[in-house]
Amino acid sequence: MKLKIGLVGAGRGASYIHGFRAVTDCEVTAVCDLDPERAAKTAAVHGVEHLFTDYEQMLDSGVVNAVVLGTPQNLHAPQAALALRRDIHVISEVPAATDLMQCCQLVDAVRASKATYMLAENYTYMLPNVLVRQMAAAGVFGTLYFAEGEYIHELKELNEITPWRRRWQTGRNGITYPTHSLGPVMQWLGERIVSVSCLGSGHHYTDPRGELYEQEDTTLMLCKTEKGSLIKVRLDMLSERPHNMTYYSLQGTEGCYEAARGLGDQPKVWIKGRCPDAQSWRPLMEFADEFLPDEWKHPPEEAAQAGHGGGDYWQARDFARAVIEGRPPEMDVYFALDITVPGLISEQSIALNGAPVRVPNFREYVTGSNVIPVR
Ligand SMILES: NC(=O)c1ccc[n+]([C@@H]2O[C@H](COP(=O)([O-])OP(=O)(O)OC[C@H]3O[C@@H](n4cnc5c(N)ncnc54)[C@H](O)[C@@H]3O)[C@@H](O)[C@H]2O)c1
Repeated sequence: MKLKIGLVGAGRGASYIHGFRAVTDCEVTAVCDLDPERAAKTAAVHGVEHLFTDYEQMLDSGVVNAVVLGTPQNLHAPQAALALRRDIHVISEVPAATDLMQCCQLVDAVRASKATYMLAENYTYMLPNVLVRQMAAAGVFGTLYFAEGEYIHELKELNEITPWRRRWQTGRNGITYPTHSLGPVMQWLGERIVSVSCLGSGHHYTDPRGELYEQEDTTLMLCKTEKGSLIKVRLDMLSERPHNMTYYSLQGTEGCYEAARGLGDQPKVWIKGRCPDAQSWRPLMEFADEFLPDEWKHPPEEAAQAGHGGGDYWQARDFARAVIEGRPPEMDVYFALDITVPGLISEQSIALNGAPVRVPNFREYVTGSNVIPVR
């Protein structure tokens, strides 16, 4: 089988091209964007044959059997459903959905389709996160019980260039962009979040029209998992400060991990019996030889060139392989919602002054019911 891929949203969508070109039996055949000039420019730069400004026309054209959804986040779930209904494979940008009704519709569409759906949570493919995942799975950190993820990315100016961010990321209050934090952390812990509490730090910035952002500057979400572990997520898209979009930590009974904070810091671990004493960290990368999968030790050139620390390459490759080999994708619809829905529920919690709110489990959703599965 050959994958004929249509990029939807010519900005972010284009960042998948290198990854797909490195996979045999994959061809990017079309670009679709409401903005014809942007579509034409991307197609010309990358030598893509077909151009569309209408998404459904592209789906019905016969020139694609898979799509990359790199459109504004409120469109991901509806556009995924339109493709899946035609048995066209989908890799969707994050988050998977912007409300719970979209989640129901997405699950309905995935269950009814012969095609594959995968969420493109590229931070799970960053090398330190992959290494920590392997070490956690090998039990190096013991029983895991606490983790953190932070996405601190000041984007007030970007809000004006891409106005959908002003509506869907900073025009709502809560953890409106949760998946880069929760993706890696939930792979490490391997358990679902069952409730969240969310609080914010208040409103200190206005947009160029003088309007306060609905989003509080920093929002903090505390999540309880099904086995009682605790996850802390910090989101900040407004505060004046340098970016730090990849901070994580993990604690277990036998050891812990802390990502780099910048200024020469490096990702580090402390592991009982593997560090000289109770106070001495070791660089995470010292464990790469022992724990990193072989292909990660000798990555192809395309991975080195891809964005987000190579993550954009690995996710495109995994999606293509899953479809071509008929395997379940690395991040299926349920995992996609496991890392999306806590953020949606945090909006209810923050409106209730941080009261804990239950997080629905979409594995229990009854097809076609549109009833949110909360127990
Ligand atoms: N995973 C990551 O690291 C990462 C990084 C950047 C962006 N993103 C995600 O990628 C998506 C796009 O972000 P961006 O920065 O490229 O935004 P953008 O606004 O620059 O690009 C979105 C494009 O989608 C097009 N579009 C809108 N509606 C459309 C429709 N109905 N049909 C076809 N095209 C349509 C727009 O014309 C625009 O060109 C967002 O969901 C964002 O969250 C993810």
